[in-house]
Amino acid sequence: MGASLLRLFFHDCFVVGCDAGVLLDDNLPSIDSEKNARSNRNSLRGFDLVDKIKGALDKACSGPVVSCADILAIAARDSVVELGGPSWLVPLGRRDARTVDRAAAEFLPSPFSDLQVLIKNFSDKGFTAREMVALSGAHTIGMSRCLLFRNHLYNGTNLDVLVASDRKSKCPSNGGDDNLSSLDYQSPNRFGNNYFQSLIKRRGLFHSDQELFNGGSTDDIVMTYSKDIQTFYTDFQNAMVKMGNFNPLTGFKGEIRKNCRKVN
Ligand code: HEM
Ligand SMILES: *[C@@H]1O[C@H](CO)[C@@H](O)[C@H](O)[C@H]1NC(C)=O
Ligand SMILES: *[C@@H]1O[C@H](CO)[C@@H](O)[C@H](O)[C@H]1NC(C)=O
Ligand SMILES: *[C@@H]1O[C@H](CO)[C@@H](O)[C@H](O)[C@H]1NC(C)=O
Repeated sequence: MGASLLRLFFHDCFVVGCDAGVLLDDNLPSIDSEKNARSNRNSLRGFDLVDKIKGALDKACSGPVVSCADILAIAARDSVVELGGPSWLVPLGRRDARTVDRAAAEFLPSPFSDLQVLIKNFSDKGFTAREMVALSGAHTIGMSRCLLFRNHLYNGTNLDVLVASDRKSKCPSNGGDDNLSSLDYQSPNRFGNNYFQSLIKRRGLFHSDQELFNGGSTDDIVMTYSKDIQTFYTDFQNAMVKMGNFNPLTGFKGEIRKNCRKVN
């Protein structure tokens, strides 16, 4: 679940801003839930767990004091810590959106993209290529469905043949679209710089992962992170704080939701 919570935070922040928009269900005519966007549907996990966290917090605070957006930010950090990764201070005070943007949610980065496109998608939001690589290190944990890496597995040229053949046993060329494989081949439940070491061994699961180490401009950064976990952690922490500061609602904007799935 740690991986799923980390990804929820990314998919919240990268659509409009870190405002818990991603948590709203289709329960009002005005809400075209971001949960139904291509990158989110049958893909995002952890909504029930967020509800549980919210319930426990509201009980402890005798009411809705902590926003769902802040819950996602803290849960992402705590997940990384719990799985053996670094810790960082999370600035708080985000408030929750009363609207969603399904159309923007259709433009989350794609696992089929080439390096130049990934760089552009992050620079459009103010992130450097180095920050994009550091944030991608989140793929040191978690799972993916077969349909998102099948083409890379069967048609890709830059991959470790033995690892690919093992992955093919769980992701057939036809069918099994929803079969899950871990993003990191060796230690999917442990946060570390293993993702970067895997890229050097040509074990990236997605085309987009392997693009970060495929003879292009980000090879050096991958190489650095693979050898120096401290540099990766420092960059990852800073990039996570920056991501968490992307367009939050503050002051009198938005609200503190009573239920993370509904506007008040
Ligand atoms: C660089 C562009 C990125 C692309 C193209 C990408 C793509 C993907 C895809 C396709 C999946 C699998 C989804 C599924 O099975 O339905 C995934 C999973 C995941 N992504 Fe990314 N991602 C990117 C960046 C990030 C960032 C910045 C973070 C967090 C900081 C992140 C965290 C995760 C995690 C933790 C998982 C596993 C989730 C789970 O097991 O529930 N990703 N990503
Ligand atoms: C990423 O950038 C490409 C190239 O500019 C663009 O076509 C695509 O829509 C962008 N996608 C996202 C996820 O922003
Ligand atoms: C491999 O590429 C070919 C040609 O683009 C495509 O028809 C085929 O579906 C791909 N195979 C897989 C398993 O994605
Ligand atoms: C993957 O999908 C195929 C086809 O649906 C299925 O036969 C197979 O048992 C699945 N493999 C795993 C490991 O889940």
